[in-house]
Amino acid sequence: MKKNNKSAKIISIVGARPQFIKLVPLSKELRKNGFKEIIVHTGQHYDDNMSELFFKELEIPEPDYNLGIGSGSHGEQTGKMLIAIEDILLKENPDLVIIYGDTNSTLAGALASSKLHIPLAHIEAGLRSFNKNMPEEINRIVADHLSDLLFAPTETAVENLKREGIEKGVYLVGDIMFDALMHFSKIGEKKSKIIEILNLKPKEYYLATIHRAENTDNYERLKNILEALSNLDKPVVFPVHPRTRNKILEYKLDSLLKGSLVTVEPVGYLDMISLEKNAYAILTDSGGVQKEAFWLKVPCITLRAETEWVETVRYGWNRLVGADKEKILDAALNIKPGENVDFMNEYAAGKICERVGEILGGSK
Ligand code: UD1
Ligand code: UDP
Repeated sequence: MKKNNKSAKIISIVGARPQFIKLVPLSKELRKNGFKEIIVHTGQHYDDNMSELFFKELEIPEPDYNLGIGSGSHGEQTGKMLIAIEDILLKENPDLVIIYGDTNSTLAGALASSKLHIPLAHIEAGLRSFNKNMPEEINRIVADHLSDLLFAPTETAVENLKREGIEKGVYLVGDIMFDALMHFSKIGEKKSKIIEILNLKPKEYYLATIHRAENTDNYERLKNILEALSNLDKPVVFPVHPRTRNKILEYKLDSLLKGSLVTVEPVGYLDMISLEKNAYAILTDSGGVQKEAFWLKVPCITLRAETEWVETVRYGWNRLVGADKEKILDAALNIKPGENVDFMNEYAAGKICERVGEILGGSK
């Protein structure tokens, strides 16, 4: 490993929407501290409003490599990424690879780096749903067990790692998405016009997102959720993830997109924050959206049986209702705010960068 951290070469691997958002604060911090960062976009997400929009709006440096892998089965998608990432790692010979979250891009990055013995850092380490039916759970477990540096967002995440025997290289640094939210929330206040465009009254609409495979790839669950969302007492703004759009068409459930549902294309991050902040409540199966609702103090109803973000439930801001139509309706009609939690601005990206610097500089 190089002794002078200023000349260290770091490869950041991203591929899906939430990873572009997580990349922003850390990439800025790494570059500010003189690291040479190379961004690899696997191409897992490729629609303009799932990828390009985020790079433009959030001013993320153009990826040095776009692998253009696209969609496919888990094996096909991950396998193609593994081959392509390995080529880049052999060519670039980085001092560190950084992977984010729990997608197939995370898994491929973890496998490629660790097989080549390149030090690996995992952002958002230690999250567990304890449900191996979720592809994300498998990706997280493998990524954590292969990583040398594990940046955990919460105490719970640190405990989860400890339970699996991982203590070395674990740093509790706070949540990088909190940095992103705080930064872009201010910008969004000036720039986003989505509330006016959709003619919404603040706190008089719900916001909904669905994309988890367990909900989209199951006819009954998807039907129940859409039936509940279309029967709520206020408009439900629903930016439709491409996976969900495809499944709604395949299952011929598009006739349920009526009543209270207001479907829109996936929106950019600034519009999303504005929609979240002004919502009466949020219904979602997204990991990132549950956390953002918590930090913005907007009640959340999670369309899953479990969550990795247990703090959101502990403080009363989040209710887990699964895909049960009656439970969804009941939760929405009985919204209560949670406890007053004082969120600490941990400045996660700064801390991560400091640790990376110490380690690459050889002082740890
Ligand atoms: C992926 C991640 C999930 C993450 C989510 C964030 C895995 C296993 N899943 O789920 O953890 O929460 O991203 O949004 O890595 N599609 C398009 N255009 C796109 C992208 C996807 O049409 O730009 C469609 C394709 O039909 C594709 C399907 O969506 O097959 C699913 O995409 P994929 O990236 O495999 O998984 P996500 O559901 O997006
Ligand atoms: N998001 C967005 N536009 C949308 C839906 C989500 O910008 O139309 C943002 C959201 O605010 C959060 C992130 O994308 O920051 C969450 O991504 P997603 O729900 O796709 O994945 P997950 O967090 O579940 O992995």
